[in-house]
Amino acid sequence: MKKVIKYITEDKTEVTADLYLGDCKDELLHLPDNSVDLIVTSPPYADQRKNTYGGIHADNYVEWFLPITQQLLRVLKPNGTFILNIKEKVVEGERSTYVIELILEMKKQGWLWTEEFIWHKKNCYPGKWSNRFRDAWERLLQFNKSRTFNMYQEAVMVPVGTWAKTRLKNLSDTDKVRDTSKVGSGFGKNISNWVGRNKAYPTNVLHLATECGNKKHSAAFPEELPEWFIKLFTKENDTVLDPFMGSGTTLLIANRLRRNAIGIDVVPDYYEMVKKQFTPLELYICEPKVKYEKHKPKRRYAVR
Ligand SMILES: C[S@@+](CC[C@H](N)C(=O)[O-])C[C@H]1O[C@@H](n2cnc3c(N)ncnc32)[C@H](O)[C@@H]1O
Repeated sequence: MKKVIKYITEDKTEVTADLYLGDCKDELLHLPDNSVDLIVTSPPYADQRKNTYGGIHADNYVEWFLPITQQLLRVLKPNGTFILNIKEKVVEGERSTYVIELILEMKKQGWLWTEEFIWHKKNCYPGKWSNRFRDAWERLLQFNKSRTFNMYQEAVMVPVGTWAKTRLKNLSDTDKVRDTSKVGSGFGKNISNWVGRNKAYPTNVLHLATECGNKKHSAAFPEELPEWFIKLFTKENDTVLDPFMGSGTTLLIANRLRRNAIGIDVVPDYYEMVKKQFTPLELYICEPKVKYEKHKPKRRYAVR
């Protein structure tokens, strides 16, 4: 089943949201080869949330997921990126290995495992376990089809930070030239390059609070998570896919950033919920801007 909603933005670009209801293994077959710029998704973790949308046993996880990653490999453009949010659970006092096994099998499928970002969950709640501490991070695995892929690093730059004030004030002779790593890694740094700059590139650790305000889905992304990857790996009018869309966070942010969005979910309630969420946005964006400038909303005066 498919629903296409089209928005016409003020600069006359069309931004679409295509919603599919069904198992993504089957629904992905509707998408053409090499048609998606970025996939950002969080599939159900093994054996979790069984009551909401079914859980897959850790032993069967890789077997369940591989036909889906095969389809994702087909639909992703050669210079596109796949970001997979996943975390292995603890079973009988041991970490499961299904994520590691999945990475190895995906490499056999033809994926390159190019990077791993860490999502540090800033607000994880306190707890006490006899043999471990509370889990405050999740994996964001990056896969690509090619070693050269689209990446817009300037779009996610961060303030350079207070270290610059002291560190860059008195530069040593070494700071002024390229200082090659002593461990033979081939990496090097020239500290003086950062003098006068107020932005720096971020690290591969994302410090984001988990989503607490979204009561409609038990495992929704914080909006900043898909937003960061969408900015980093796509440009306007590109296409972003979430094959496990849940409450549709990835799609919402993609459209907000003027990227086309495609979402799939197997639970009819989530599909209907996302469909509803998108309709008011359509009306808002399609209305000509001039209306808002000429008529001030009466209700706001009443409130004051
Ligand atoms: C972890 S949640 C995703 C939450 C989402 N990132 C958000 O921000 O709301 C996983 C979603 O995958 C859906 N799902 C589970 N199995 C699926 C399948 N085989 N095909 C499509 N969707 C599936 C579930 O219904 C659930 O909404």
